[in-house]
Amino acid sequence: MHLEQIRPFSTDRLRLRGLTPQDQEALYAYRLLASVCLFVPFEPMTRAEIAERLVTRWANQSLKHDGDGVLIGIEEIASGALIGDISLQITSLHDGNGEIGWVLNPAFGGKGLATEAAHSVLHLAFGEMGIRRVIARVDTRNTASIRLCETLGMRQEAHLVENELFKGVYTDELNFAILDREFARTHEPNPINSCGSHSG
Ligand SMILES: CC(C)(COP(=O)(O)OP(=O)(O)OC[C@H]1O[C@@H](n2cnc3c(N)ncnc32)[C@H](O)[C@@H]1OP(=O)(O)O)[C@@H](O)C(=O)NCCC(=O)NCCS
Repeated sequence: MHLEQIRPFSTDRLRLRGLTPQDQEALYAYRLLASVCLFVPFEPMTRAEIAERLVTRWANQSLKHDGDGVLIGIEEIASGALIGDISLQITSLHDGNGEIGWVLNPAFGGKGLATEAAHSVLHLAFGEMGIRRVIARVDTRNTASIRLCETLGMRQEAHLVENELFKGVYTDELNFAILDREFARTHEPNPINSCGSHSG
């Protein structure tokens, strides 16, 4: 269960790929927004922080050890613009567990693009990477993310009550999960969450 290098792959509307220093401005366009940072661990970022991460943490494109994470860029094919990013982390090699997260530039929201991107990253996780179970941890106030989890076919496994002092507030967290066989079932004939968008 590992990934040596993020190989770019495409869906109907998107190209998923590793990030490069050329993505700095596009990342800054949404990672500086307070509205984007409400329910994510990071605070609004500066250009310098983004530039630094692009050559350190976000330059990593391999998943081999517990705790390794990759940040996958979401590029809109039509415009060529980087419109968001998806994180994928190995939480336990032994247990075959991974964690997914997503951030979309709100200028591109409400069109199903984050759903399309996350769905394709689940293909990568359960396919090439051989992960067995993927989770998402979502603040209960983050209704857009909760809907996204549900659309992806993720099950709510837990509601943690005031488990975290998050940005100065004791917050509740929902844990969503999906197993490889559950994801595969959504691609059987007559699926509820059919896949018409991933092309390898
Ligand atoms: C979470 C986040 C990525 C969701 O973005 P989004 O725009 O709602 O998600 P999508 O791009 O998949 O769009 C889904 C919406 O498009 C609509 N839509 C339109 N066309 C669609 C299509 N072809 N397929 C699916 N949905 C479509 C859906 O109905 C849905 O709208 P609804 O939520 O009002 O029902 C975004 O809100 C975000 O980046 N938030 C800040 C970062 C964050 O909190 N990350 C999560 C940390 S856990």
